[in-house]
Amino acid sequence: MAQDKTFYITTPIYYVNDIPHIGHAYTTIACDTMARYKRMKGYDVHFLTGTDEHGQKIQAAAETKGITPQQLVDQIHVNFKDLWRVLNISNDDFIRTTEDRHIKTVQAVFRKLIDQGDIYKGTYSGYYCVPDETYVPENAMGPNKTCPDCGRPLTIMEEESYFFRGSKYVPELIKYYEEHMKAVMPRVRYNEIMSFLKGGVRDQSVSRTSLKWGIPVPGDEKHVIYVWFDALINYMTAVGYLDNPEMFSKYWPNVRHMVGKDIIRFHCVTWPLMLLALGLPLPAEIIAHGWWTVDGEKMSKTRGNVVDPFKMVKAYGLDAFRYFLLREVPFGNDGDFSELALVSGINSDLANDLGNLLNRTLQMIQSYREGTVPSCSDASSELSRMYPEVLSRVDEALNNYAYDEALKAIWEFISRSNKFIDETMPWKLAKSQEDSDKVSLSHVLLNLYESLRLAGLLIAPFMPDTAKRIYSQLGQDADPLTLNYESFTWGAGAGSTIKKGEVLFPRIDLKEWKKAREAENAPKAEEPPHEAEIGIEDFGKVEMRVAQVVKCEEIPKSKKLYKLEVDLGYEKRTVCSGIKAFFTTEELTGKRVILVTNLKPAKLMGIESKGMILCASVKKDGKSEQLTLLTPEKDIPLGSRVS
Ligand code: MSP
Repeated sequence: MAQDKTFYITTPIYYVNDIPHIGHAYTTIACDTMARYKRMKGYDVHFLTGTDEHGQKIQAAAETKGITPQQLVDQIHVNFKDLWRVLNISNDDFIRTTEDRHIKTVQAVFRKLIDQGDIYKGTYSGYYCVPDETYVPENAMGPNKTCPDCGRPLTIMEEESYFFRGSKYVPELIKYYEEHMKAVMPRVRYNEIMSFLKGGVRDQSVSRTSLKWGIPVPGDEKHVIYVWFDALINYMTAVGYLDNPEMFSKYWPNVRHMVGKDIIRFHCVTWPLMLLALGLPLPAEIIAHGWWTVDGEKMSKTRGNVVDPFKMVKAYGLDAFRYFLLREVPFGNDGDFSELALVSGINSDLANDLGNLLNRTLQMIQSYREGTVPSCSDASSELSRMYPEVLSRVDEALNNYAYDEALKAIWEFISRSNKFIDETMPWKLAKSQEDSDKVSLSHVLLNLYESLRLAGLLIAPFMPDTAKRIYSQLGQDADPLTLNYESFTWGAGAGSTIKKGEVLFPRIDLKEWKKAREAENAPKAEEPPHEAEIGIEDFGKVEMRVAQVVKCEEIPKSKKLYKLEVDLGYEKRTVCSGIKAFFTTEELTGKRVILVTNLKPAKLMGIESKGMILCASVKKDGKSEQLTLLTPEKDIPLGSRVS
């Protein structure tokens, strides 16, 4: 196949130590959609994804687990492979940076650059966290030059390092970008990169002696190659830079990298400088997308709001999830993920618009024409006239990676088709005995059928499975993904026999959905596992007795504590208890409670507290959200022992 008909698209390679989340899913689904679309346009596509498996974090995590880094990455890279299977990703290759083919390529590149004088030895100095054994860039340091991960003070460290002479190629790169304004998209990122380049770029350190888990520098094995230098080369490894010149020359000139906005400097500066040094063509396009927040907040493990794509697919179905991610935000912008927005999208765009169009159309073909699509001498209509324009809008949008615009154009067509039903009122035509009405009815039904046949084709790259289901219900044997847009002819569906099937997207009852969400989010009792097992003799050491609160007072300045006087029958004691948020003083006075009586006395707000009142509570983030006192269920003398 001619080189200009190839299309090589890559996702970033994902750090294996992270649990896959919607951010990762988003990039990969966007690439997958583009790859599928280009295949349908007749391109020879190569779609690459993979995992980035070297570096400090992996080394440290493996040490904690007591296994080798290789064993660790062998275990966890599978999380990504599993997700891509679940998300129906059509990648042609999955690269791991620990594979032999990659290690050899990286070393060959490094060697070549040393030999030509573009990699040289120097001294690297930077802020270093000794316990974590890692350098911390100045812009990532915590307050007072501390480590952002562990909070400990950083020290300045110097070590011998290899440097890449990227600065030499900066003018050439600026010139390339000036001549190729679409090489970095969207424009805001292009401008960002241009001003960064014009501000000057220093040679970069590309090796470390402080780390073991990486690719050794050829001929100087106390150094390992810096993880980004290693990772970027994956794009070359996978298309045979080292050992398959034919494949390499076929795909390389048409390589596109899809990346998040956080890693554009590596892709739009470091990487092209490396390629210029190697004398290779620069990427045709580097496309940067925005970041997802969740319900308005940054997604993070500590916030506990990381959206799990496996869970979303299970709850709402794969194609609804794929549709939502690509439809919700203009590509390049940041987006906010909310399950409510996802559910609303399913109900309106998928169940109402697309699902109803299919249902109504098939229902009518079944009832009025016994399941066979009628033919008519002239199939043209408003819908047929609209379709070339839809095709070109979709083309244009996707050529600019404007997935949302493409979907908008398709959905305008779907809405227009639904409106066509309301305007032509086929149920009225069906009742009429007039010949002209019978012809009109055939015309309407054929047009509706054709609009669905087209819609199935257009949505195929976005929602491959739904497209197939639509085609199967339309009685079309072919998998729409194997078809070419250009071969679509309006009217050619006449004579097909439909096979009405299940509803595509069942409506989600919002009330029920909200109720279920509330139940899910309601505070829950803490989950096991709890404390370590204890023997009965340990339990026996805790003396608990029935007591009665005889007095309850506020403690000035304390927001949480009450000062209580409790009667054990045989003595009275003072106890401070942090239950103020849950009871008034009146509510507590007279209450029978269970008191731990042999707890060492403690001074709280200057008051000696002798004992602890038992409560059950539901905690969230370490704080009690609900709390109740434990009280004896029958009358029993004060001082009775609890066992
Ligand atoms: N390993 C490097 C990439 C090396 S490529 C030669 C890396 N990996 S990553 O796993 O941290 O990130 C991979 C991609 O996920 C990045 O493009 C990043 O932008 C994207 N996302 C991570 N969190 C994201 C969101 N919250 N939203 C959208 N994308 C996000 O960087």
